Amino acid sequence: MANLKIHPVRRMDAVLQVPGDKSISHRAVILGGFAGGETRVTGFLPSEDCRASLSAMQAMGVEMETVSRGDYIIHGRRGKLRPPAEPLDCGNSGTTMRLLAGLVAGQPFTTRLFGDASLSRRPMRRVVDPLTLMGATLTCEGENSRPPLVVRGAALLPIRYQMPVASAQLKSAILLAGLQAPGLTVVEQPEVCRDHTERMLQHFGASLRAGDGGRRVELYGDTTLNGKDLRVPGDFSSAAFWLVAAAALGGARLTLTKVGLNPTRTALLNVLMRMGAQIKEHVESNEFEPYGTLQIEEGGGLRGTTVSGAEIPNVIDELPVIAVAGALAEGVTVIKDARELRVKESDRIATVAGCLREFGVEVEEQPDGMVVYGGNPIRAARVASRGDHRIAMAFAVLALFADGPSLIEDTDCIKTSYPTFEEHLEQIMEGDLAGKFRLGVGLVNSVKRLVNQRKTSRQDARPPS
Ligand code: S3P
Repeated sequence: MANLKIHPVRRMDAVLQVPGDKSISHRAVILGGFAGGETRVTGFLPSEDCRASLSAMQAMGVEMETVSRGDYIIHGRRGKLRPPAEPLDCGNSGTTMRLLAGLVAGQPFTTRLFGDASLSRRPMRRVVDPLTLMGATLTCEGENSRPPLVVRGAALLPIRYQMPVASAQLKSAILLAGLQAPGLTVVEQPEVCRDHTERMLQHFGASLRAGDGGRRVELYGDTTLNGKDLRVPGDFSSAAFWLVAAAALGGARLTLTKVGLNPTRTALLNVLMRMGAQIKEHVESNEFEPYGTLQIEEGGGLRGTTVSGAEIPNVIDELPVIAVAGALAEGVTVIKDARELRVKESDRIATVAGCLREFGVEVEEQPDGMVVYGGNPIRAARVASRGDHRIAMAFAVLALFADGPSLIEDTDCIKTSYPTFEEHLEQIMEGDLAGKFRLGVGLVNSVKRLVNQRKTSRQDARPPS
């Protein structure tokens, strides 16, 4: 079991490019493999989660050529997948399981989807209900609608469906099924959640429209998608860890390049700006997904805020690191309407609250969120990730602010979404050492200058001979 040892930093001056977006990478192999023709994907995230989707599509007959790491040519099967010889292993990835459930619901064969211990605890009822209404037969082999999930595909019918939770995985499962049903499928979301599936479907030529401020999505099914080139931008949710670190650290400077700036993902920027951060956003390209540069020129001085309501789905993966920002801010930070956090890779309300307490932060756990009392010194700690990648990374960030070295245990899970996290963390910590060295050299030079000035002024003060 891997651990991360983290020493506190006092300065930060970094330029980073985070790896490809996880959500877009999943969709690139799933939709690229389903569409007709070739899809070239560059910047694919080579993480364990995305590999699970890639291997599942290969197991259903999709051929892929590797051009280089993260650069693939996918030969799509024009809507006709092959029955997999074995059950599909979705690993730790809820996105793989729920999106594939929607995809195979319209195929004329039976598929069994299973995952690791964490995924086996996650609710699948949300996809079972609409896909059953559309005509597929789904069975959860775990208790209480938990995986493994067996999907018997069928000729589907379109539906009009009001989603009970604002979940992009659920919306995408319905749209992937709707793609295979003749007529109009309509999905209504309680709040707008990430729209990567809709954007990619449109990019591939599907007839899709959004209404009601993005809450309603209408898709005409039974059309052939045509594969197209896709450039996957950097994952905003990975960038979030460094954004919070830089926003909280006095005088910090940070530039993040080629990072995804889809507005359904970037609400953290609004949260941090409300907390007092100054962040410059520069959109460089607006292909099917916008991306660009984010810059913080001087971090420090955060104050507490409230995150709730419609903002929640657009910060859902950033909530653990927002709680960390709250611990580093003056005053109180409230997170509410975020009950969904209870059914993520871990119960993120309980895990975050437990870890914050280990670092000496006062926190009140609520059924749908938490209250974080910030601004007190952070005590060095030893915490366990509980196998949850975002917990491991969020608390690695908090450890940068502690009063001594900390240990994050069980950090292998970071590979599910951010394989180069440790490298980037080292870069931040080494940058601080280099900074201390520069500061040391600077101090020596200032002392030298002072001594020289004194000498000169003494010489100047001597009476001319
Ligand atoms: C994702 C949607 C979100 C998010 C997850 C990725 C996606 O989950 O938390 O990390 O790619 O669609 P929910 O749909 O369960 O909110």
